[in-house]
Amino acid sequence: MTLTALTDVQSEIQSLARTFAREEIAPHASKWDREACFPLDVARRMGELGFLGMLIPEQYDGLGLDTVSYLLALEEIAVADASVAVLMSVHNSLPTQMLLHFGTDAQRDRFLRPMARGEMIGAFALSEPEAGSDASSLRCQATRDGNAWLLSGTKSWVTSGNFADVIVVMARTDTADGRLGSRGISAFIVTPDLPGFHVGKKEDKMGLRASPTVQLNFDALRVPADNVLGDEGQGFIYAMRSLDNGRLGIAAQAIGIARASLEASLDYAAERKQFGQPIADFQAIQFKLADMGSRIAAARALLHATAESKDRGESTTMHGSMVKLLASETAMWAANQAVQIFGGYGYVKDYPVEKLFRDAKITEIYEGTSEIQRLVIARELLSERARR
Ligand code: CAA
Repeated sequence: MTLTALTDVQSEIQSLARTFAREEIAPHASKWDREACFPLDVARRMGELGFLGMLIPEQYDGLGLDTVSYLLALEEIAVADASVAVLMSVHNSLPTQMLLHFGTDAQRDRFLRPMARGEMIGAFALSEPEAGSDASSLRCQATRDGNAWLLSGTKSWVTSGNFADVIVVMARTDTADGRLGSRGISAFIVTPDLPGFHVGKKEDKMGLRASPTVQLNFDALRVPADNVLGDEGQGFIYAMRSLDNGRLGIAAQAIGIARASLEASLDYAAERKQFGQPIADFQAIQFKLADMGSRIAAARALLHATAESKDRGESTTMHGSMVKLLASETAMWAANQAVQIFGGYGYVKDYPVEKLFRDAKITEIYEGTSEIQRLVIARELLSERARR
């Protein structure tokens, strides 16, 4: 399905992920969705296969792979179940990358290594009830107390937050009036055993139902000063840089959902007969299939080109937002086409496309809404023009 030639390693990773996804995820995805329960044993198994340390260098117990390999694997997992894919994306793109790039050697030994081996699951806590798209307006307050920091406030929309072993939390280290804005935010490594850590409301979501999304409440949560990640006041910049990576992961997840929508539609259209022939013979259906295939191929080509650019050390802020926008809108659009092709059967839970439709929607919302991606893209285009 990929347009560009894959290296031997990339093909091997893709085929390993495809087999794992088909055998160990796909058969159970609908049950996990129905029961809104996350298969922690599957996360452990992903760890054993190296899927939770794909971008971490071998010196820290990861696989040290290129970004295209990681995204190929993520797409395969997302075809089988977007809920499993989001855990993989968040873990690989956000907390582990923050520890790798901004952590001390001691922090990498204590947290990054076990995360790379999949023995610890990571989460990322930026948003708050009143700070979503406007992330730098966050209010969770960190106050210095001897050789610790006391964190008070609420974080929301935390993927895997009820079972994560390590959560990178952005909190305000300037005064409560937030005078320093985005420069008054620092990153903290939080573990659930710390006093004052509470898991709050678990969201009852439209889609991605197997992936838990929770609020975290911090009541003077006591975080040792050794758990400050990087420099004080840099937490927002670190989070933004990590989201540049995260958005590639969400794009791969979205492409996986779109591909699952297309594959289900192809099978159904070939088998379903109306007016005495398979509906795949009707041009109205063929055009939908053709548009789905074209949009998926375009999104994947941009994703892999952006991943290669990232691995060359270039900034991917603009192209990352472009591909997150393109892929997520493709996923929602393709899932909608799939429901239409299935007709009434697309609207019920006996067939897979109803779940794909629900799962697709969140890709247009989390890790930056489509509106925020457009804002980032326009800003980058205008600043490029100003530099010319
Ligand atoms: N890389 C590096 N630095 C960046 C950056 C990037 N991509 N984007 C911004 N910055 C820096 C800026 O250069 C600026 O630095 P200076 O102080 O040196 O000037 C600083 O950050 C502040 O930037 P802005 O002035 O652009 O900040 P802003 O308040 O206008 O907000 C925004 C920018 C793009 C709207 C940002 O708030 C944003 O991305 N919002 C969306 C939030 C988001 O994606 N949340 C996802 C939640 S996590 C999640 O969903 C995970 C999950 O579990 C699935």
